[in-house]
Amino acid sequence: MSKYILSFDQGTTSSRAIVFNNAGTIVAIAQREFEQLYPQPGWVEHNAMDIWSTQVGVATEAIIKAGITPQDIAAIGITNQRETTVLWDKITGEPLHNAIVWQDRRTSAYCDEIKDRGLAKNIQEKTGLIVDAYFSATKIKWVLDNVAGAREKAAAGQIAFGTIDSWLIWKLTDGRVHVTDVTNASRTMIFNIHTLEWDQELLDLFDIPRSILPEVKSSSEVYGETTGNVLAAKIPIAGIAGDQQAALFGQMCTESGMVKNTYGTGCFMLMNIGDKPILSKNNLVTTIAWKLNGKVQYALEGSIFIGGAVVQWLRDGLGLISSSADVEALAMKVADTGGVYLVPAFAGLGAPHWDQDARGTITGITRGTNASHLARAAIESIAFQTMEVLKAMEADSGHPIKELRVDGGATANDMLMQFQADVLDTKVIRPQITEVTALGAAYLAGLAVGFWNSMDDISGQWKIDRSFEAGAAENIEQRIEGWKLAVKAAKACTG
Ligand code: G3P
Repeated sequence: MSKYILSFDQGTTSSRAIVFNNAGTIVAIAQREFEQLYPQPGWVEHNAMDIWSTQVGVATEAIIKAGITPQDIAAIGITNQRETTVLWDKITGEPLHNAIVWQDRRTSAYCDEIKDRGLAKNIQEKTGLIVDAYFSATKIKWVLDNVAGAREKAAAGQIAFGTIDSWLIWKLTDGRVHVTDVTNASRTMIFNIHTLEWDQELLDLFDIPRSILPEVKSSSEVYGETTGNVLAAKIPIAGIAGDQQAALFGQMCTESGMVKNTYGTGCFMLMNIGDKPILSKNNLVTTIAWKLNGKVQYALEGSIFIGGAVVQWLRDGLGLISSSADVEALAMKVADTGGVYLVPAFAGLGAPHWDQDARGTITGITRGTNASHLARAAIESIAFQTMEVLKAMEADSGHPIKELRVDGGATANDMLMQFQADVLDTKVIRPQITEVTALGAAYLAGLAVGFWNSMDDISGQWKIDRSFEAGAAENIEQRIEGWKLAVKAAKACTG
């Protein structure tokens, strides 16, 4: 019996691979960053071949670090940055264009046109999504419309589209398997979350030929196996989930009403809402959490575009710190922000505002403002944005949220976690294993191949590291009001 699960966690800024054992413990981890391409203001691209080569590289490295052989791996689980769009030539295996990343705003004017035509309500009813350049549909259309010969090749059945999960699986299987799972499909804006099928009316609207689409599968089943050319073994690929859904699963938010927030480049809060796709009245999106053992679970999601990336901006844009980890020490030099608010609307504002034109704004600067105040305001902006999403979730669900499970790099920052609990007036819980995204994908794969037999085998593996109780910060109401005014200013400051 093989003893490990290998999880691919293909994120926005790095590819990671983690080997987990049966106790859900990390045995080895490898990570590689890859280049971010910004060909024009508001455009964000990745080279799909870089994504592939870094992902294979870290997988090999993790296996070596673990001191095991590929034959010791029972299954591979894949989790990925969502919405990011790749189209490739099925004959040559070459991408038609760089991957268009979820953050890319090139189709925002077209999205406004769709909204002006009064189509948003129908789209939301079918897909659960708010019309926005964030999702894949308009990115697919852009590639088909702008790459010479793309539409002709598509008509000849030569083109494949995929989110990153599809692209990796197609490569791992040497072009034999073209699939995605329901969670990734639910982020494309052409997938009907009620019928669980690609939606012909939306395919017509966005002029996307059905022939390019992957087959949509559940989140936990054997989709195919690696050919042996890449990892030197035939390993079943048995789990797929978008990274935020994988994190919800890894956080064991398996009951309706349970909520997690992941602090990465952006912040993504998801609430399990059970087996019915309730539509949001407060500008959240409805998405598929997973399909497991034939049963679909749905989630409400609030996506914040700039979370941890605001700290990177302090480092790379302003040069205030030399490494992201230094931000807490810099911020701790002052007791508060001195009335400064920083709204990091660098790429517009996501949930619950969905304002494509808002721009980053700093308010309340005085002659006494220094780098520490800015660092503190940056950290607090992550917590305030999270608060806005949580309030929208409470309004949608009709009752207060009792606890928020957190994960992602910034959760190591105790100051942020305490302030988060204070502004939410809710308990914030950090688990012992913070690699819950990769763990979620590992669980989905392991359940499919009998590495774990049931939820009972894994639910006890989630354990608390620390709980942050609300109530430590002073003048919290007043500070929330200050934040709201700053957001108004960011919305007025259109780019
Ligand atoms: O929707 C975008 C999200 O999936 C990206 O996550 O962790 O790669 O920034 P991350």
